[in-house]
Amino acid sequence: MTAQFDDKVAIVTGAGSGIGKAAALLLAKQGIKMAVLDYSEDELKQTVEEIKQQGGEVLSVVSDVSKPDQMQKAIQSVADKWGRIDIVFANAGINGVVAPLEDLEPDEWDRILEINLKGTFLTVKYAVPYLKKRGGSVVITASVNGTRNFSKTGASAYSSSKAGQVAFAKMIALELAQWKVRVNAICPGAIKTNIETKTEERNTEDIKIPVELPDDVAALKPGTAEDVAELVLFLVSDSSRHISGSEIWIDAGGSLLLG
Ligand SMILES: NC(=O)c1ccc[n+]([C@@H]2O[C@H](COP(=O)([O-])OP(=O)(O)OC[C@H]3O[C@@H](n4cnc5c(N)ncnc54)[C@H](O)[C@@H]3O)[C@@H](O)[C@H]2O)c1
Repeated sequence: MTAQFDDKVAIVTGAGSGIGKAAALLLAKQGIKMAVLDYSEDELKQTVEEIKQQGGEVLSVVSDVSKPDQMQKAIQSVADKWGRIDIVFANAGINGVVAPLEDLEPDEWDRILEINLKGTFLTVKYAVPYLKKRGGSVVITASVNGTRNFSKTGASAYSSSKAGQVAFAKMIALELAQWKVRVNAICPGAIKTNIETKTEERNTEDIKIPVELPDDVAALKPGTAEDVAELVLFLVSDSSRHISGSEIWIDAGGSLLLG
């Protein structure tokens, strides 16, 4: 438990799995009151159980980040319970469909952009009135794809959504600075989570660009959700008090190699 986090309230989206779950568990360990949000009720149950086992205070919020009415109610339920929101980790996201441009359907494009980009906007938008009261920290999960890595052919919608998240983070970092709300984007490389199991890859054989990479380079090995959670903790802590409007890559340098 750290005194700087006393009474603080956080909301973490996509907390049912992977990076969101690891961050929720780590923040809860610091004594931060945790609202964990996901659209998968089943996955959320496990996160809630684990936070309780750690002795943490937790609120389970089942909501789809891409739906304005649901997100407005979700944020309201957090404020109703604890009367404040200090930390927002806008992390929920999908890979969606990876496919050549001619094959990618407009509704598939929309779904990726709606969850990853609009979902980020909605999460932060409805939390802003509470963040402004005492200042706070917003962390947004973008990706190496769309920010430093443009070689994952077929992931055009995903990469566009992630680039958009970084632009959004920088815009609102400045807009909210006078209320002492810091906003940063994190850009993970490959991280071992369940996200790939939910990805639909279609007809990408012809658009793959062969790149020869060395076999045994540490920077190309996937990281863990816990690695990313440590960065989130840093960005919501006082140690990062002078950092806002930044994107931070967390990939052991792998995206420099992949490009
Ligand atoms: N795993 C990686 O290699 C990697 C790399 C870069 C960026 N990311 C980003 O990290 C974030 C988390 O991904 P992860 O790897 O932990 O994936 P994950 O699939 O393990 O977890 C994502 C969680 O978000 C939830 N979610 C998805 N859509 C939602 C919606 N509309 N409303 C509410 N909840 C929703 C899912 O139910 C799931 O619990 C995503 O934004 C992803 O783009 C992941």
